[in-house]
This record gives sequence, structure tokens and C-alpha cells, in this order.
Amino acid sequence: MDRGELEAGARNILLGNLRRGRADWNGKEYSFVCPAMVGYPFQWFWDSCFHAIALIHLDKEQAKAELTTLMSAALSDGFIPHIVFWEMEKQPEFLRNNLVGRTSANYSSTIQPPIIAYAVERVYEATGDVAFKDAALPIMTAYYRWLRRFRDPDGDGLIAVIQPEEAGTDCSPKYDEVLGLEDLSNHGFIAALKKVYAAYEPIRGDDVRILRKDVFHFEDVLVNSIYALGMRSLARLLEGTEPEATEFNREADRTISALLSKCWDEDAGIFFDLSGIAETPVKMVTISSLMPLILDDIPRYYVERLVKKWVSSPDHFWLPYPIPSVPASNPKFQPGNPHGFIWRGPTWINTNWFLSHGLRRHGYSELADTMVTRSQDAVEKSGFREYYDPYTAEGLGARNFGWSTLILDM
Ligand code: GLC
Repeated sequence: MDRGELEAGARNILLGNLRRGRADWNGKEYSFVCPAMVGYPFQWFWDSCFHAIALIHLDKEQAKAELTTLMSAALSDGFIPHIVFWEMEKQPEFLRNNLVGRTSANYSSTIQPPIIAYAVERVYEATGDVAFKDAALPIMTAYYRWLRRFRDPDGDGLIAVIQPEEAGTDCSPKYDEVLGLEDLSNHGFIAALKKVYAAYEPIRGDDVRILRKDVFHFEDVLVNSIYALGMRSLARLLEGTEPEATEFNREADRTISALLSKCWDEDAGIFFDLSGIAETPVKMVTISSLMPLILDDIPRYYVERLVKKWVSSPDHFWLPYPIPSVPASNPKFQPGNPHGFIWRGPTWINTNWFLSHGLRRHGYSELADTMVTRSQDAVEKSGFREYYDPYTAEGLGARNFGWSTLILDM
């Protein structure tokens, strides 16, 4: 597929999934791309950031509108929800099949990987729109402070998620143990999640108490790598504004050094998430274990070990269509799509986008180029799907899926 064809395909998806209107419940105008018209008809936090980045290549005004709409959902304390139900008439059907933690009918009370400041930086760089940046800055500052205040109770620089969907990698096998998952299926996952929701029910919305309850308390490597990336962007956007710029660089430093000191496993040569207040390492390798590669500041030693032992090994992550969400060496690896039991093997374009940029920044341009070519091949073969079989590139999950258009930015 040449660039023109890719762009035409991506434009079809992004414009086809565009939702515009005025919400009945808050009177605000919205203009955003939903992940997929079937199954995901609302605004999702990290999807929207990815859509905005892809839109830079097609329609810069819409890229701004996407993020402006997401930021318009920020609450006064800084929190930004992971799902915003702009079109409430579609909600009943969605809630019949999905669980969403809420204290309001109209949006979730949960977060997603905090990439927003990076997306704002990219859109600002592409447009030079100072008014857009100036409007975003107080919202970004409040948001990253909210995360620190409410999600880092032990003050170590690593923020915690309170349920798997917050990490964006919903059914990853790394959560099986803490969820007590026995029935290894999407159905089993929902049943296990219901127990977490039931424990939270009386205190939903009070994240301090939820984290103290220690039911699901994950200092997730993917989330924290993205948190640090976002804070670096925010510090750059704040350049010249002191003491805020220094504040966010300092916090990014703290997060990165905590990833290195607490999550790195010297024997395995990879990063592991920490579970619970006790910070027990969850020694299961998944795509998250590679995510510190997206950070410029990871010392060479860690990068080389990750790449040599894990990324480039056909026994682990280097499959015909890399990089799978779970390495082939993990006994729980499932390359196909067992009925929506997601993040357990297939390859996703968003993690490929992250990691191809990370590998390139660390000097592995050949690996990055191959990832880009194979990702394009997958899209050419199967269209813009939610995820792909890492052996065959068979398209799986939702069709016309928004963030697969990130291919334009790889
Ligand atoms: C699934 C994914 C999540 C994504 C959402 C919408 O829940 O796991 O990361 O944000 O779908 O696409």
C-alpha cells in the first residue's frame, strides 16, 4: 500500500467514526472520533489521543477538536474520565455488555493511560496554535497533579490503577492471579471484574479509600511509562513557566527512576508490574514489560537487554507480525481471538506505534522499519482492525477501528 492509499483508508475510518453534536446532559458541543461505530460508540481517553495524532496527518482542525472535546470533560478537581458518554441514547446497549465504574451517569470515574499531554504537544507542534496550547495547559497541569495526588498514595512516583481497564490492556493475563481468574474466557473475566466492582460499590469515586482497600492496586509499567512520557511533554509545553516546568520534569525523573529501581528484574532482564500495597512484582512478561523503551531516558544497559533477549527473539516477541501483546513463550499466549478475550496475544497498532518510535529513538531503526512494514502489511491484508493475529495478520476484533490509523504516524 502506498502512502496515498493508506491515507485514504485512514480518512475513511476517522471521518466515518466522527461524532459531532451537542450533548443533552451538559449542553456542550462535542466533535470526536469514536473507536468503532459498532461496539465503541463513545469517546475513550487514550483512543482519542491516538486519533488526534493520526489526524495531524489528515485534518489538523479535527485533531484539535478531538482533544478539546476530551479536555472539555475534565472535572474541576483535574480528573479526566476514561469514557465520556456524549450520546446517552447509545448507553443502555453498551452497558448490557460492558462494566463501567461510574459516579455520574455520563462518564466513567476511571482513568486510562495518561498520554494526553504528549498528544497536545504533537498537535501544538503541528499547528503552532498558541491559543490551543494556552487553553490546554491549565487542564493538563491539573490532570497530572490529580494523578499524583490520588493515584500515588505511597509517593514513590509510580501511579496505581484500580482495575484492569484503567491500564488499557483489559484482559491481559498479568491480571489473572490478582483477579482470581479461573474460567479463562471473556465471560470469566467479566465475572471476576464484577467482584472488584462489588467491593468498590460503597466507595466508588473515593480513590483514596479504594486504593487503601487493596483489592486491585497495580503499579503498571505501561501506565507509568506513558505517565512519564506525558509529563516530559507537559514540562516542554510549560517551558519558561516556572516553577511548573521544573515540577513536571522532576516528577518524570522520579517515575523513571522508580521504574528502574522497583520494576526492573535483573534476572529476567525485563520490567514487571507491582501488585498491591505490598508491591509484589507480577512476574509475567507481556507487552507492558517492554514499554519503558518509549522513554528517552532509559539507560542503554536496560534497552540492550530488552531488545536482545526479548524484542528481537522469535521465541518471545519477534513473530511474523510483531509485536504481540503477549510473547509466544508465555504459557497463556493466545494468538487468535477467543471471543473478545483481548490483550492475550494478538498484535495491536497502538503498541506498535509506541514501540517502533521507542526502538528508533534508541538506535534500532531496522527493527523499527520492519515493525512499520509488517504493520502496514497487516492493514493492507485485513483492513483497519482492532488487532491482528501475529502469525497470519488475520484481522480480529472491531472493524474500522480508529487507533489503527496511527499507522500514518509510524
Ligand atoms: C478496549 C481496550 C481499550 C480501549 C477500548 C476502546 O477496552 O482494551 O484499551 O481504549 O477498547 O477502544
